[in-house]
Amino acid sequence: MTALLDLINTDRIDTNEKARPMTLTANWSYPTQIRFGAGRIDEIGAACAAAGITRPLLVTDRGLAGLEITARTLDLMGEAGLGRAIFADVDPNPDQTNVADGVAAYRAGGHDGVIAFGGGSGLDLGKIVAFQAGQTRPLWDFEDIGDWWTRADADAIAPIVAVPTTAGTGSEVGRASVITNSETQEKKIIFHPKILPSVVICDPELTVGMPPAITAGTGLDAFAHCVEAYCSPHYHPMSHGMALEGMRIVKEYLPRAYADGGDIEARAQMMSAAAMGATAFQKGLGAIHALSHPIGAIHHTHHGMTNAVVMPAVLRFNRTAIERPLGRVAQYLGIKGGYEGFCAYVDVLNDSLGVPKSLKALGVKNPDIDRLIEGALKDPSTGGNPVKMTQANTRVLLLDCL
Ligand SMILES: NC(=O)c1ccc[n+]([C@@H]2O[C@H](COP(=O)([O-])OP(=O)(O)OC[C@H]3O[C@@H](n4cnc5c(N)ncnc54)[C@H](O)[C@@H]3O)[C@@H](O)[C@H]2O)c1
Ligand SMILES: [Fe+2]
Repeated sequence: MTALLDLINTDRIDTNEKARPMTLTANWSYPTQIRFGAGRIDEIGAACAAAGITRPLLVTDRGLAGLEITARTLDLMGEAGLGRAIFADVDPNPDQTNVADGVAAYRAGGHDGVIAFGGGSGLDLGKIVAFQAGQTRPLWDFEDIGDWWTRADADAIAPIVAVPTTAGTGSEVGRASVITNSETQEKKIIFHPKILPSVVICDPELTVGMPPAITAGTGLDAFAHCVEAYCSPHYHPMSHGMALEGMRIVKEYLPRAYADGGDIEARAQMMSAAAMGATAFQKGLGAIHALSHPIGAIHHTHHGMTNAVVMPAVLRFNRTAIERPLGRVAQYLGIKGGYEGFCAYVDVLNDSLGVPKSLKALGVKNPDIDRLIEGALKDPSTGGNPVKMTQANTRVLLLDCL
């Protein structure tokens, strides 16, 4: 025992390693291969080798293209003999034009796999480029409806290494990408089991430069995934347990990551919570995401921040169905007052992280309520909400959020 304690005694490691919590380093195979730990972006060459990629295209968004973390990753790719190819014409809430441009770049470069690098936008676009580059049917044929995913030529899907740079969407461990159809202004979910990246590098040092507003918005997306998965009525005990612990991690570490972006332990814990939230939502999502998707597609708001704005109203909306389960959550999180206490906690958390109090304050101007209701009721997340959503009650809910 003493020897083991000696091994993790931080006094015995050098200063740089001290800043990197050694205990928050591991290799996991759940739900895919994950190399977790500070500094592990250095393993990008090994990760590509493990995925069978020799000529990757790194796909990221415009904002990240100019950042040091991206330049460093390209250098590491170069040193590993993988080239330095990058495609960064990716918007927040990426759309079908970004997909078409990315696929063209992938084909023109003769690549054999993708490094999806970024927040949800870069990750989702990278995953879809790897998927769509080998397909002959149009993208929308693969929307997550029934068994439409079986239309895809699975053998033509290129391998993916995913590297998250935010801690929120958990797209790195997901089998879907969210792509906006900019013509119809709808967010569409494209699903295929082989979009799950074969290797993930979760390096919390990559998230250190996130500005506080993005730390908050993305962290609250992870929280929304856990809350909605936990409250979803579908039977999935593994996801249920993961959602509960995910909420605890967010409660403990999101305020720390927000207050001090350089707090690597908090950044690491939030990276875990993000992956847990996305793994957990195999159990289902709900009204938070059903509202947030059409709002984001039409009004271009940040996904996680939109979720955070609507969460208090959705908790009230679902009260009859979630009073007891959220009472248990409150107990686990050390919150007094059961369901009421949990709702009060969410209000305080939102305030402390600068979340606007209404959709109007978030920038949703002159919303077309009927269109938002239609979008929400069509969204696949609607089916996981514990209270059945109808035209009438969704209108009341939306007005409450505005
Ligand atoms: N596939 C899924 O399961 C899933 C789940 C939830 C959300 N999403 C989708 O993900 C997208 C949102 O992703 P997001 O919330 O991560 O935001 P994002 O990817 O749009 O990034 C937000 C901003 O942060 C910047 N950024 C990212 N990492 C940074 C870093 N380390 N330092 C500094 N700046 C950084 C980006 O350049 C961008 O400007 C939406 O399109 C949403 O619909 C997908
Ligand atoms: Fe989300």
